[in-house]
Amino acid sequence: MNTSTSSTSAAASASGALPRIAVLATGGTIAGSAADVTNTSGYQAGVVGVERLLEAVPALSGVAQIRPEQIAGVDSKDMALALWTTLAQRINVLLASDDIDGVVITHGTDTLEETAYLLHLTVKGTKPVVLTAAMRPASALSADGPLNLLNAVTVAASAAAHGQGVLVAFNNRIHSARDVVKTSTYAVDAFQSPEIGALGWVQDGRVEFQRKVVRAHTVATEFVIGANWPNVEIVTSYAGASRLGVDALVAAGVRGIVVAGTGNGSIHASIQQALADAATQGVAVVRSSRVGSGHVMRNGAAADDVLGFVSAGSLNPYKARVLLMLALAAGATGAVALQTIFDKY
Ligand code: SIN
Repeated sequence: MNTSTSSTSAAASASGALPRIAVLATGGTIAGSAADVTNTSGYQAGVVGVERLLEAVPALSGVAQIRPEQIAGVDSKDMALALWTTLAQRINVLLASDDIDGVVITHGTDTLEETAYLLHLTVKGTKPVVLTAAMRPASALSADGPLNLLNAVTVAASAAAHGQGVLVAFNNRIHSARDVVKTSTYAVDAFQSPEIGALGWVQDGRVEFQRKVVRAHTVATEFVIGANWPNVEIVTSYAGASRLGVDALVAAGVRGIVVAGTGNGSIHASIQQALADAATQGVAVVRSSRVGSGHVMRNGAAADDVLGFVSAGSLNPYKARVLLMLALAAGATGAVALQTIFDKY
């Protein structure tokens, strides 16, 4: 076990000043508002500005010097590729600046795991980058956003968070962007890292990491954020499935398809034949699982070597899509090259 604990960044404690943390707001339930304090499902996401989010947490002034920026105000179900580009490029500028010690991003919970993994692979720096969110809107009784925001800033301000890749601070736990997934539609402990658990925890100003991320990220990837996103879509396998969806995607000219297979990435025979046909036409096909935890064994439930498929390993279909888009954008072609990338990240 690798345990490291800290409360403030090394640079800040050397100078005696509080760390300078940029807080980039993108919307979500953390910035949501409803007419009634008991309404936690029928609210409008992304309408409360970053200044008001910060005002709700006076204790932040004892943790960091906050540099707020309103990047967007979206419900994250509507997260767009262009906004990903804007966000990642802005973070890279901030990480390169001598005036910033870390970055926090407030985000909706619905696609947080996708944005977090995208940033994990494309931001370039070792300073902390921490996403947070909330399950209850800012207007709710017992809103979880304020404490999540305080904890995210506390993690971003800590020396222990340096070089850990992009992190998610949620409900007192610190997760790696690679592993974390949303697992509940309503509970305040909605984020988990299935199989392997959180990296650590944050509570009352104390940050403790109990393990490190092993797979390559941030400065150790070949991925560069750009504006050209290859078209990659996701299909699901299920009882009675047909090949209609895959054939429509291939006819539309997609570059890649991720299949959310059953179990160990097994695929209904109709879809599997359609995907094999797609692969022979040069479409990248990645086999993932709809199960929600575990991994997909290469050449296990499907003959990847024969069919020209790639195994997503332990990435869920949504994160596998992120990696496939980045890999194709970086010029990777063919199942062998893509499998090497999936095995690395
Ligand atoms: C969103 O993802 O923007 C809405 C839902 C949430 O943040 O919990």
